[in-house]
Amino acid sequence: MIPDSFIEELKYAADIEQIISSYVSLKRKGRHLSGLCPFHSEKTASFTVYPDSQSYYCFGCGNGGDVITFIRNIENLDYIEALKFLAGKAGLKMPEDAKNDKAARLKMRILELNRETARFYHACLNSGAGKDAFSYLMGRGLKMKTIRTFGLGFSPDSWDSLFLHLREKGYSPFEMEAACVVRKGKGGGYYDQFRGRVMFPIIDLRGNVIGFGGRSMGEKGPKYLNSPDTPVFKKSRNLFALSFAKSTKTGLLILGEGYMDVISMHQAGFTNAVATLGTSLTEEQSRLVSQYAKRVVIAYDSDGAGQAATKRAINLFSKLDVAVGVLEMKDAKDPDEFIQKFGRERFEMLLQSGKSAMDFEITKLKKIHDITVSEGAVAFLNDFCKLIAGVENEIERGVYITGTARELDIDKKSIISTVEALRKKKNAGLRKKGAHNLHVYAQDNAGSRVKPRDKQLEGLVAEDRLLVMLMKNPDTFDRVGKIISPDDFVDEDNRGIYTAISEKMRFGQPFEIIYLSQALTNGQVAKLTGLLAKNRDLHFEPKQAEEFAQAVKRQRDKKSQEELKNMTTEELAKYLLDNKKQQK
Ligand code: UTP
Ligand code: MN
Repeated sequence: MIPDSFIEELKYAADIEQIISSYVSLKRKGRHLSGLCPFHSEKTASFTVYPDSQSYYCFGCGNGGDVITFIRNIENLDYIEALKFLAGKAGLKMPEDAKNDKAARLKMRILELNRETARFYHACLNSGAGKDAFSYLMGRGLKMKTIRTFGLGFSPDSWDSLFLHLREKGYSPFEMEAACVVRKGKGGGYYDQFRGRVMFPIIDLRGNVIGFGGRSMGEKGPKYLNSPDTPVFKKSRNLFALSFAKSTKTGLLILGEGYMDVISMHQAGFTNAVATLGTSLTEEQSRLVSQYAKRVVIAYDSDGAGQAATKRAINLFSKLDVAVGVLEMKDAKDPDEFIQKFGRERFEMLLQSGKSAMDFEITKLKKIHDITVSEGAVAFLNDFCKLIAGVENEIERGVYITGTARELDIDKKSIISTVEALRKKKNAGLRKKGAHNLHVYAQDNAGSRVKPRDKQLEGLVAEDRLLVMLMKNPDTFDRVGKIISPDDFVDEDNRGIYTAISEKMRFGQPFEIIYLSQALTNGQVAKLTGLLAKNRDLHFEPKQAEEFAQAVKRQRDKKSQEELKNMTTEELAKYLLDNKKQQK
């Protein structure tokens, strides 16, 4: 258990507005701040930070909590690790007993072990064993400085050279296996995961070595081998070279497909290049990009797979506030090859001309349909109109429509009217959906004035309202506590929240969210923050304390009525007896 005194220190040292600002660009709106949610894809800000209650809540996805919850969610840490992270930032000393947390310790060991592994591979590259690997990298045009900057290395072609090295440094086989740098063989012995490969360490935003990619220099095995997910590495949440590229001043990131592409681009001066790690772009990665860039240029391979991946990436970015361009390379399969063949200036020109994502989509449509015959042209125009109807900016729509009308030599008026009709239909659909949401929201927020659809709802609304009231008017606790106990809550999360609140209140301890979150699950913290965020303007009169408490109890009793029906005669007799005792 972390003492409240430490939480209090942390509360002042790790101001939520300041901490969140380093991840999300926030705009002040009266007493709170808002920005684009880092936990789901959105274009309008529904992520809200409340400095007065030191909490945050996203009305779009329901993520919410205190500063500790935020760090847990965004850095993918558990409670203790998040505390340590914040304490480290604020220069606070963690209370003793929290230090030895097992999982956190293993993660720390893995990070140290990974760093040692990267050092070992790098040293091997520069030794006799790495002669061939070194020539291979030179042959691919890398300079010494680049090799050093990226910490490239070589994994010797032996079964256990890394294993023996790490053992000598004091790491256990269990730790090595957890880091996925060695594997357990069938006979129970251990062998190195990477053998005879050029090694690319993967480094996170904090400078930790979190995993590796290894390229084979011959035909043996898969071309690239990547670390699987480990306690310190989540592929879907990281991008290769983001630790270098994040300081880009231009607000532009170049998204490549592979390690060598990114390294080539950096060497040629395009230090804003990043890549996914042997998988296609994930939604989390697209959001990560949007946190560091206003604009992204997709520089995937020019082959079919690369083009399919480009389309997928465009879709992901279209949900975010990022402008997307697509690099169109001719006579080279990827950025690395292009730069080797044609040099950095030509690559720069390519970047400048960076066609928009829309150009990319239109070109694709033209490839699908044969626009030289009228049937094909009609089919193309149908798809084209659907595509353009999704463009929000009218001027932009005009540019594409004019261009296409000219190319097909038709009157642009007919295209415009088709597009407008599609847009009307689309917007009407959206309005309907919006109205529905509003309806649900109103039900959720109108308090005891709502006419609940059924008793169950009445009970749940009462539970929610009771929790809000306790947080806002803590002195009502005495009256509520006389009527109900945690068991009276039907909703499991509500029961957990009430238990935590009543513990704090009974002992007169501080009960703001940051003090409660230790005893709550992430879901419960989000639920409570959400209730408070949605009911900020709600005021209570003391006498409502009893009203809400009674409503919660009624709900509970109703459940009992149902249970009664299913009881055996014996159970029923016992129940009635107990009830009588209680009433006396
Ligand atoms: P490519 O096959 O396009 O290789 O894979 P590349 O990046 O051009 O590499 P070089 O130039 O031949 O050295 C692109 C990316 O896909 C992943 C790797 O991350 C690679 O960088 N990949 C590829 C794998 O994970 N495994 C493989 O076997 C191949
Ligand atoms: Mn390549």
